[in-house]
Amino acid sequence: MLSGKKILIGVTGSIAAYKTAYLIRALIKLEAEVKVIMTSASSDFISPLTLATLSKNPVAIEFVKNDEGEWENHVELGLWADLFVIAPCSANSLSKLVSGNCDNLLIATYLSARCTVWVAPAMDLDMFTHFSTTENLRILKEKGVGIIEPTSGELASGLEGKGRMEEPETIAELIAEHFAIKSNLKGKSIIITGGPTYEPIDPVRYIGNRSSGKTGVLLADACAARGANVILVTGPTHEKVKDQRITVIAVETAQEMFSAVQENWAQMDIGIFSAAVADYRPADPAIEKIKKKTDKMAIELVKNPDILSWAGSNKKDAQYLVGFALETNNEIENGRGKFERKNLDLLVLNSLRDKGAGFGHDTNKVTFIKHNNKLINFELKVKSNVMNDILDEIERDH
Ligand code: C5P
Repeated sequence: MLSGKKILIGVTGSIAAYKTAYLIRALIKLEAEVKVIMTSASSDFISPLTLATLSKNPVAIEFVKNDEGEWENHVELGLWADLFVIAPCSANSLSKLVSGNCDNLLIATYLSARCTVWVAPAMDLDMFTHFSTTENLRILKEKGVGIIEPTSGELASGLEGKGRMEEPETIAELIAEHFAIKSNLKGKSIIITGGPTYEPIDPVRYIGNRSSGKTGVLLADACAARGANVILVTGPTHEKVKDQRITVIAVETAQEMFSAVQENWAQMDIGIFSAAVADYRPADPAIEKIKKKTDKMAIELVKNPDILSWAGSNKKDAQYLVGFALETNNEIENGRGKFERKNLDLLVLNSLRDKGAGFGHDTNKVTFIKHNNKLINFELKVKSNVMNDILDEIERDH
């Protein structure tokens, strides 16, 4: 349920630290990857060895060295996590989270983390209701830190009231819910084409293009992250999908790509065609390597099938089709023409005249063309964010 999710657990000095052992066990049961950072005060309440054993990872406490005597990099840990949960979070640590007083590894990691952070406060009744604590919690909440409210009951001091850390099973459920996929692409079947095609001239030479295959791979991973069943039909590329659930069909030529699409399109809900397909191929590729004999030589080319047009003319009402266009002039007019001719629902238009767009950049600037002449312009963005804009648009329509 949480497989592939990286959860960093922070433990601070509170008697509730014993509950963290149960929290870690619950997360491991849900197949999460768990790492633990402790403050040195917390190690008086629960042994680092217990938490290392349960989390299946060494526990980090000091800046300088971990159990293996290596430098513990708080920046690396902060960037590693998909979610950082500080449970229990003492009144002292709460105040350091607000002030940024990073005199320990846990707070330094908090300052370096780019992921969502949650805190589960645990303290005595009067400490919890003290204005310092309520003010710190208010500021953290305002800054986007998630607060897992403590519950009421008997406290370690013998007093009765609010201050008990939420039960570990409940925290584990909240974490699972946080990662549950809410996208309406969940369970949808999506076919994606990507990369260049290589059209053989002879057994060693081919006609190709400069497409890196990055767009197809990023799209496939973004769709899988939203819970879709993905088939990626890709031409030759060094890029690799991260999500092992994606079915990758590696092809070389446009005709091979076409066959893979023809075999699968009828069963698909959505098609996203981003491949840079060669428009022409050598009519008659040589069986043996061509020898250099003459000063001039001509290669006769024939037209390749337009795979996207085929999918458009074989599209059922419930199917949704996305195409890409890379234009150098009359962008909107040409894009609109392609949108109509290929029977699309969404065309992602790139202009080579825009700086940072097109081949070989990690950024892209796109315009969406939709039904009823609707245009949506986007700013220059990193490519992975462009993928999410495309998927958000499909979600809105489909
Ligand atoms: O007509 P043009 O090549 O500009 O159209 C680009 C769009 O058509 C892209 O989505 C591309 O993947 C798709 N295409 C295709 N088969 C071809 C040529 C283009 O699927 N033979």
